[in-house]
Amino acid sequence: MPSQGEAAAANGPATEIPTASAPPISVLFVCLGNICRSPMAEAVFRSLTASDPRLGEIDSAGTGAYHEGDGPDPRTMRTLEDNGIVDYDHAARKVQASDFSTFDYILAMDRDNMHDLRRSRGRAVKKNTWAVGEEKGKVMLFGDFGGKKGEQVVDPYYGASNGFGIAHEQMVRFSQGFISQVIEKQENHTV
Ligand code: 4NP
Repeated sequence: MPSQGEAAAANGPATEIPTASAPPISVLFVCLGNICRSPMAEAVFRSLTASDPRLGEIDSAGTGAYHEGDGPDPRTMRTLEDNGIVDYDHAARKVQASDFSTFDYILAMDRDNMHDLRRSRGRAVKKNTWAVGEEKGKVMLFGDFGGKKGEQVVDPYYGASNGFGIAHEQMVRFSQGFISQVIEKQENHTV
């Protein structure tokens, strides 16, 4: 009996038949208030990955509950609109324990957010009987995907209005880095 390779050679050039695609990747963007930076990150990332089947759930949340239920800061919405994103809608929410088992990647805007998230993840794992695999709820700094390790998104809430433009440039660059370093690295399995 010919081996698979011999049979394939006899039948001409092999065609790769995708059998199973890698599961969609879900991403949660996190800042402190969930009204300035993380909604901007979510909106930019959504616009860059629209209808990409490699992506699953995309959302944003805050480590604090100060603005629960509020829409994004008007300066975030204006910055998005200035950059062609006019259909973004979001109500602020606080990060919850289930986020760590729901999302593959949890991307923090600054180091404080990252430390708070890592503490919350530890508490969530301890409190629950479900096991959170290392592959779920990976807490990382979003800026690590932008080409300079450790780059943070400075909170523009109390700062000058150009803070929102700076943040937007970062969101685009970090999103592009995440897409090329994570999404495009995830291969389809073939026989
Ligand atoms: P964000 O900015 O974390 O980028 O949404 C903030 C917005 C509001 C507050 C803090 C940060 N606040 O304390 O009200």
